[in-house]
Amino acid sequence: MKVLIVYETKYGNTKKAAETMGDVIKEAGNDVTVMKVDVVESERIKDYEALVIGSPTYASSQAKSIKKFISSLDVDAGTKIVVFDTHSGDGINTGGPMRRAVKKMEKQIEKNPNLEKIMNGLQVAVKGIEGPLIDGELEKCKAFAKKIVENL
Ligand SMILES: Cc1cc2nc3c(=O)[nH]c(=O)nc-3n(C[C@H](O)[C@H](O)[C@H](O)COP(=O)(O)O)c2cc1C
Repeated sequence: MKVLIVYETKYGNTKKAAETMGDVIKEAGNDVTVMKVDVVESERIKDYEALVIGSPTYASSQAKSIKKFISSLDVDAGTKIVVFDTHSGDGINTGGPMRRAVKKMEKQIEKNPNLEKIMNGLQVAVKGIEGPLIDGELEKCKAFAKKIVENL
């Protein structure tokens, strides 16, 4: 299956999570492309049968670039989608699971009837603002990616 993983990042943590998931999904025999949101060509998105979208949490929401990307998605019916976020996970600036980018992205996805959410999103914790990823979070990303493979 052709899978596109799109992420936003400032400090590299969301990119690392995206690439880790990409490796697992690729190893399972899928055709995977991992790209930062600003280089995705919107007219090429229809080439993909499944999308994985990752955003840092900013002020309890997804990055503006990701919000714009999801709201402008022009895809065929039945395009599979799953999201993940990164957020501060050590007590700084956290507002709990409902106040993270995953929830906001999933609300956006519900508005597009052509998108089929295949799983609940994953929330990935980083240390402070700049990271790195907190111990154990990369393993969570790998397990999540294995589940994605089962749901493709
Ligand atoms: C302006 C700003 C606002 C942020 N707001 C939140 C927040 O509301 N909740 C939270 O858990 N983390 C918050 N963070 C932490 C980010 O989620 C964290 O920097 C991000 O996950 C790092 O991802 P990256 O390395 O891919 O850039 C904020 C970070 C910045 C820079």
